Amino acid sequence: MPLANDFCEGNEEREGYAPLKLMWCPRCTLGQLSVVVNPKLLYKEYSYVTSNSQTMRNHFDTLIRDLKSESECESVLEIGSNDGRLLNHFQELGTKTVLGIEPASNLADIALRNGINTINEFFDQEIAGIVADNPKPPDVIVARHVFCHIDDWQEAIYGLQKLCANGAIAAIEVPYFIDTINTVEFDQIYHEHLSYMTIEAMKHALQGTGMVISNVKHYPIHGGAIVMFIKRGRVHCDWSESLTLEDLRAFAHKSHACIADLIRLVHELVADGKIVVGYGASAKATQWINSCGFTRKHLKWVCDSTHQKQWAFMPGTDIPVVDEGALTRDLPDYAICFAWNFADEIIAKEKIFREKGGRWIVPHGEIKIVEPHQTAVKETA
Ligand code: TMP
Repeated sequence: MPLANDFCEGNEEREGYAPLKLMWCPRCTLGQLSVVVNPKLLYKEYSYVTSNSQTMRNHFDTLIRDLKSESECESVLEIGSNDGRLLNHFQELGTKTVLGIEPASNLADIALRNGINTINEFFDQEIAGIVADNPKPPDVIVARHVFCHIDDWQEAIYGLQKLCANGAIAAIEVPYFIDTINTVEFDQIYHEHLSYMTIEAMKHALQGTGMVISNVKHYPIHGGAIVMFIKRGRVHCDWSESLTLEDLRAFAHKSHACIADLIRLVHELVADGKIVVGYGASAKATQWINSCGFTRKHLKWVCDSTHQKQWAFMPGTDIPVVDEGALTRDLPDYAICFAWNFADEIIAKEKIFREKGGRWIVPHGEIKIVEPHQTAVKETA
């Protein structure tokens, strides 16, 4: 598969392809990729920008509320702080001291320009030591959807150990592997996601560190995520979960069936003269489009609100990425909502498309079609 965020313009050289294979350990229940792509290739100029959607803002509100019930949140460190959006939200809700650590220089620059104190580095023990020695060290460390991108867990966990030594709490948000499997989200599997996390796996990783999972919260964001609250202690919180090889086999089988369904549907529509496009050039879109072998003959374009992705091509294909306005300019017959995690918000926002008879295809767990009179995905159930 191509690298999921390798958006290139016509004259740029692509980073290429790498094997994509999910491995699973029945003992600790962690899922992992079989290869690690050099992070410098993946994150040097990173095109993933934290969403500014209402769905995300609501999640930030809930997350910060839940964090405040665990800690004062006087000084917050975010690992993988992207363009600083979450830290900005913390500031708006009263946190005085915020600091981000972000390896992508383009995103760290945006954060700095917006007044968010940011260190442009990969997180490791050395950086953790420097931050822990600050006159006002963090009482909360947040890492949203970053742990699954880290290859060297020991380095990251030793870093957290330094930061949590004086009673700070770390909130690690990850896509929940159990949700990924149960909801057939094969499109969450791509080279940036090196590990697929369960509570059991994190308990194994924390062995011998003096840290425990003190609490877990489950959120609907991104198709199902958990936040594990980690701090110094002796006893892990209770949380029951189950994942078996049979579950993984069923997941593989259902994923193939979903891919076959989308291929069949799009081929039929195109043969019938219908114009089909994609909405949301997410990493998930790269996975779907390349798994289905779609080209510009199938999808005219994929639109996305992220400037960094526009006017480039979808990784691995000749399908151009355009701005969101293309949906009302072109009024295609069908739009595949690859950003299904924001589907209801997007469907509500794109009223004109719906009113002009446009239909949504939502590929999440199954291939759902949302008719023009429907204002949300759930109504199709
Ligand atoms: P994500 O699921 O990995 O956050 O990616 C969602 C993609 O969808 C991201 O590239 C931004 C894009 N998007 C839009 O283009 N319009 C929207 O209204 C929303 C919510 C997301």
